[in-house]
Amino acid sequence: MQDLDNILSSFEGKSGELIPVLQKIQNELGYLSEEAMLRAAEFLNIPESKVFGVASFYSQFRFTPTGRNKITVCEGTACHVKGAKGIKEEISRIKGIEDGETSSCMEYTLEGVACIGCCALAPCITINDDVHGRLDKKKVSDILKEI
Ligand code: FES
Repeated sequence: MQDLDNILSSFEGKSGELIPVLQKIQNELGYLSEEAMLRAAEFLNIPESKVFGVASFYSQFRFTPTGRNKITVCEGTACHVKGAKGIKEEISRIKGIEDGETSSCMEYTLEGVACIGCCALAPCITINDDVHGRLDKKKVSDILKEI
């Protein structure tokens, strides 16, 4: 709860802060736990059902923890045209996880995302904060061996 109190301390507790509060909780904790959403409802003095409803409406919010390594595959137009689907399938095959899943060892989370702004490097992925571009299945396999 100390973490949550610290996170909430930068807000005033107004109901209009719900989305920024949820975004900050997710940025800090990696996902929205039930405990965190209940605490947000209490802090903002709004019904718990509203917090759960808003959080589940927006696809940006996660309700399960992410792995220590977050792998995102760009699915924007340039990457799609250059084979992003095959890149994602290769990552799925190697790590044994599908889009949106986290490995049981909590090491890897795989997600498809919209354009990440590196179209000249298509197809590209990010692993945590690092961008890897001009990929093919062999390059992806080599990169994944290093993490
Ligand atoms: S489409 Fe993939 S980086 Fe823009």
